Amino acid sequence: MNILVTGSEGYIGTRLTAWLMAHGHSVRGLDTGYYRDGTLYLDPLAMPAAPPTVYKDLRNLTPGDFAGVEAVVHLAELSNDPLGELNPEITYRINHRGSVDIARAARAAGVARLVYASSCSVYGVAAGDLVDESSPLDPQTAYARCKTLVERDLAPMADDSFCVTFLRNATAYGPSPRMRFDIVLNDLCALAWTGRHIAMQSDGSPWRPLVHVEDICEAVRCVLDAPAAAVNGEVFNVGNTQENYRVRELAEIVAAVFPGCTVSAGPARGDNRSYRVSFDKIAACLPGYRTRWTARRGAEEFLRLFTRIALAEDAYRFRAFTRLKQLQHLLRTRQVDDDLAWTRA
Ligand SMILES: NC(=O)c1ccc[n+]([C@@H]2O[C@H](COP(=O)([O-])OP(=O)(O)OC[C@H]3O[C@@H](n4cnc5c(N)ncnc54)[C@H](O)[C@@H]3O)[C@@H](O)[C@H]2O)c1
Repeated sequence: MNILVTGSEGYIGTRLTAWLMAHGHSVRGLDTGYYRDGTLYLDPLAMPAAPPTVYKDLRNLTPGDFAGVEAVVHLAELSNDPLGELNPEITYRINHRGSVDIARAARAAGVARLVYASSCSVYGVAAGDLVDESSPLDPQTAYARCKTLVERDLAPMADDSFCVTFLRNATAYGPSPRMRFDIVLNDLCALAWTGRHIAMQSDGSPWRPLVHVEDICEAVRCVLDAPAAAVNGEVFNVGNTQENYRVRELAEIVAAVFPGCTVSAGPARGDNRSYRVSFDKIAACLPGYRTRWTARRGAEEFLRLFTRIALAEDAYRFRAFTRLKQLQHLLRTRQVDDDLAWTRA
């Protein structure tokens, strides 16, 4: 299948393009390149050559960008809550309207399928029972609200000639060349490696569902390979019901894996994002799909990676691996303007 992946140079995108190419797909990338300043590792054995990539802001797409494309996997957005709050108006422009425009343009260009990277953060506060795809949504931030708006506006576009699927991903973890240390397990592992101590900023009581980046890639692949009737208009939470953790449990798992690491808890504070999620639908209904990773195995994988690349404190703290720091740097140095558009070609 000819697939266009937007956000192909991001944390998930670099792993996903490689995963799809390794599974026989023909892949093109599209990305504006906000995080190109940093690569945590380059592994020619594990990473095939990057796909042909168009460097372009998604706000400037034209029908020609979809020529020959059979499926779009849309990842390119401002990808977490702090980024979303930087300038909520721009967040709506890129994450909400930009995503709707991409879907419209893809449909008009005759693209047959679109997979949208949504997020479990749409559930907001739901610390009691497990939430599933039919639960009410309670987005707490501009980032999460945009995810719900995109789902709302794309759902009616699904028809016999345009198959749309929504993947509500849990919080990802795992290595990627375009690393993110601003997501919980990646951050805890880097703290454990560089300082041998995890000082939690809170009592660690909020729940988080976690999923390995490779299990996200496999979900996308299974959706693209599935008969349209099995996935058209469907929403799938992406993860595994066994992989809901309290943050303090994650810290303890990491401390058990990284030699000599200790943990201290911080004060109780009302984290307004806490949710436990059921992933039973994807296991039952997405043909061929199962997750392969657990948080513990993910921590062990990081220990091997950090040993191999001798991760140093300055690499862990490097701005490009924390999405907010990098965009603030691009703004401060006027490489991007207030609309987050590049000031130079
Ligand atoms: N990583 C997670 O834990 C997670 C969880 C749930 C959902 N998601 C979603 O998955 C998607 C990918 O996440 P990620 O972790 O890889 O994020 P990321 O920030 O690493 O990657 C996003 C990519 O999109 C690009 N991009 C941003 N704005 C753009 C624009 N206007 N035009 C063109 N390209 C643009 C960036 O340059 C970047 O390479 C996002 O939509 C995110 O909301 C991620």
